[in-house]
Amino acid sequence: MDTRPATDVFHDWALNGKDEGMEKGHAASVAEMLDFIFQRVKESKQPFSAVDVGCGNGWVVRQLRQHKHCNYAMGIDGAEAMIAKANDIDNDSDYVLARLPEYHPGRRFDYLHSMEFLYYLENPENMLRLFHDDWLVDGGWAVIGIDHYAEHEDSLSWPEHVGVNMATRSIQQWRDAWLNAGFTNLQQWIAGGENGVTLVFAGQK
Ligand SMILES: C[S@@+](CC[C@H](N)C(=O)[O-])C[C@H]1O[C@@H](n2cnc3c(N)ncnc32)[C@H](O)[C@@H]1O
Repeated sequence: MDTRPATDVFHDWALNGKDEGMEKGHAASVAEMLDFIFQRVKESKQPFSAVDVGCGNGWVVRQLRQHKHCNYAMGIDGAEAMIAKANDIDNDSDYVLARLPEYHPGRRFDYLHSMEFLYYLENPENMLRLFHDDWLVDGGWAVIGIDHYAEHEDSLSWPEHVGVNMATRSIQQWRDAWLNAGFTNLQQWIAGGENGVTLVFAGQK
């Protein structure tokens, strides 16, 4: 199978406007993930910082930034056209064009959100360890959603269909990876409403 880097494919998607369809498709699952974050913000009554990893055109960063207690929001993505779009729409947040796992943010966050990004990495287990060790403050939360996993059979043809390598793991393998990375208070659910397929994990440092 001929494959391309995911960031090249999504650069083209942004140029063709396909980022907007993706935003609509992911909205229901992301709403549940943001609810999880905002519930914790409400309980802590503290200002918070947040990062969206694999942020695409930045639509989730803007939702984080609009929360009245958010004092800093950043998005990072390796697709040039995605970050260009994000910067065109929003001057209020930081958008970084960089490839993971190599990029290091140079600061820590209270919340790390990521939707449909992690399995594009060759070694997502290592990325989870880096998120835990280097990206989050003590007590911070990571909330990560993925639609490609072994039990979601329809998703198993995606690597060939999209022409991109994907790290296919079972739900149990993902769970083990989160625990091995050091996360505690691990929660997991399937998001996206009645026919939802998004496997979400949330864990605390
Ligand atoms: C399926 S899209 C999801 C975008 C956004 N989270 C959303 O829900 O609309 C995956 C994003 O991850 C980015 N990505 C994939 N691999 C990456 C890597 N190694 N470094 C940085 N970004 C990456 C892609 O460029 C793309 O924008």
